[in-house]
Amino acid sequence: MSHTSHLPAISQAVMRSSGPADDHYPHWHHAPLTGLMNDPNGFIQFAGQYHLFYQWNPLACDHTFKCWGHWSSLDLIHWRHEPIALLPDEEYDRNGCYSGSAVEQDGILKLCYTGNVKFADGSRTAWQCIAMQNADSTFSKQGPVLPLPEGYTGHVRDPKVWRHNDRWYMVLGAQDLQHCGKVLLFSSGDLQQWNFHGEIAGHGLNSLEDVGYMWECPDLFPLDNKHVLICCPQGLPRESHRFLNTYPVVWTQGHFDYANTAFEHGPLHELDSGFEFYAPQTMLSEDGRRLLVGWMGVPDGEEMQQPTCEHGWLHQMTCLRELSWRNGTLYQHPLRELTSLRGEAHHWQGNTLPLAPTELSFDIAPGSEMMLDFAGALTLAVNGNGIQLTRQSLLSDEIHHRYWNGAVRSLQILIDRSSVEIFINDGEGVMSSRFFPSYPGQLTFSGATPVAFRCWPLQPCMLE
Ligand code: FRU
Repeated sequence: MSHTSHLPAISQAVMRSSGPADDHYPHWHHAPLTGLMNDPNGFIQFAGQYHLFYQWNPLACDHTFKCWGHWSSLDLIHWRHEPIALLPDEEYDRNGCYSGSAVEQDGILKLCYTGNVKFADGSRTAWQCIAMQNADSTFSKQGPVLPLPEGYTGHVRDPKVWRHNDRWYMVLGAQDLQHCGKVLLFSSGDLQQWNFHGEIAGHGLNSLEDVGYMWECPDLFPLDNKHVLICCPQGLPRESHRFLNTYPVVWTQGHFDYANTAFEHGPLHELDSGFEFYAPQTMLSEDGRRLLVGWMGVPDGEEMQQPTCEHGWLHQMTCLRELSWRNGTLYQHPLRELTSLRGEAHHWQGNTLPLAPTELSFDIAPGSEMMLDFAGALTLAVNGNGIQLTRQSLLSDEIHHRYWNGAVRSLQILIDRSSVEIFINDGEGVMSSRFFPSYPGQLTFSGATPVAFRCWPLQPCMLE
């Protein structure tokens, strides 16, 4: 089907969209007007604007027909819907314009993405492709620049491209022929011809064994004279308190040697220990900050049971975050500009607050026990071991937990209509989760009294 033949159906779906009228539709996070949104893509600052693209099926709440949706912003707080950037309308991307990144080449914004092609026998192939922005802000595809490399299945995708000195570098998520997850490294002088430098992470490298059958969405970047690799290993064995989501997100820190194109790194750590977090992507802002945004969803779990599907929309992003390296570990902090969403501070005493888009910040006396109940849809319990999040399955009576282990000294909690992001000890840990309360609802505190408690309503900011 041609590009233009889908556009009337997409604009009708957008016009019919009842998403924003839903009680669970976010006030200040990115979400699709209609249909399913997943990974953030092409996060970049270019020519005075920030751009955030996203995996989007505007036609249904399912994982078919993946396009690139597009938002832009001047200040990282107020965002605009831009026309859809990429549609799966060529032979080489006919089953989806899959995830990727954006770069600036000679003053032009270019998108690097995966063209996903599925065959009748269930197999697939993948092309790494380039598109460029036109003067009117639409995008023209320039076609594939890299076929499937030899030695891998059709699962090779999610190009994250960056420039170092005079060369372009690209990491790809991949599955080798033994069905082990890998990160592949390529470089290029012109974004067209790519040289393969081999595998830089995954099974059998840097003492990792049995780390899953496919690694998606790799992102390798410098931070404080080190390099950090973020990646999404599928099939990583669950532990009692870690890697409990259908697919987790991990980070590892090490040294990337450009001369030998080799990456030596340490153990895997969980990047976010909440119920929903996947496929994050980072970018370097012009003021030198490493910013991250993630999908507050996880594929192949209970996503299709989320009640928002009945309102024709599914999933939201996390808040934007700043990364830093402190005390020998990776910290995530809410984007500093988000403080401009704060309304007048509430002077609150007591144990309940109306559940609404709110930021809470407080300290906790060492070892004390405390519980926050989000209108019966999620509880957060703090004790001497750390934090336990609890909620009921959307499919059954089963109760699920997520954990962060360590001494909790302070919490910063960002609440939206159906999401919460819990920043522990100034960003040493983060737990991101969706929850689906009935409104009006109450946020109830019990146990130890929070110390230095502060609370702000959060203004809607987002999309026009
Ligand atoms: C991760 C992912 C990517 C892929 C995209 C397709 O959620 O599976 O690997 O490019 O989603 O939407």
